[in-house]
Amino acid sequence: MDSTHIEQYVLSRISSRRYAHCLSTAIEMQRLIQRFSPDYQDLEGAYIAGIWHDIAREWNDSFLLQYCLKHAIIMESEEYRHPMLLHGAVAAHLLSVRLASVPETWKSAIRWHTIGSPAMGILGAILYIADYMEPLRTHLEEGERDTLLQCDTLEQICLSVVHRHLLHLESKGKTHAVSTMDLLDFLEQGGVFV
Ligand SMILES: [Fe+2]
Ligand SMILES: [Fe+2]
Repeated sequence: MDSTHIEQYVLSRISSRRYAHCLSTAIEMQRLIQRFSPDYQDLEGAYIAGIWHDIAREWNDSFLLQYCLKHAIIMESEEYRHPMLLHGAVAAHLLSVRLASVPETWKSAIRWHTIGSPAMGILGAILYIADYMEPLRTHLEEGERDTLLQCDTLEQICLSVVHRHLLHLESKGKTHAVSTMDLLDFLEQGGVFV
């Protein structure tokens, strides 16, 4: 399946509005790579991860949970409590079903785009950030994109997005996932994505 077929497949599975977000995320990922990781070579992976990441976002909680149970997908406790969060884990599994020999970097990136993890790698960090700040996002405050883009490193901008994510959860009275806090610790201790 080449990227054109992947685009068509995703478009047939999600609403056109969600597809626009996925496409915008994929394009934002290319920009972020140029800005923060110019040596990163896998632009195809970045494009496919962006297009694919929300393919299961419109599934209901019951479908997501059943899919994970059926395929023995390991869930974080926060994902089990709020199955909507499982759309990342399900999307990663679906890609490995549709495509032969999917690189682990693509799967990890898609798997962790919802709650973040130190295990998400460079590609995952790029996806996590792009998902938050792609230009179609309506939650961004004026100037927020520019502020984020002034960060010096991929890890700094990722830390800023984690802080914003945690503030958002706090404002909604929601709890955070353990892997999100692991990511926070990783970045605060100077961790570097590989
Ligand atoms: Fe998502
Ligand atoms: Fe998304």
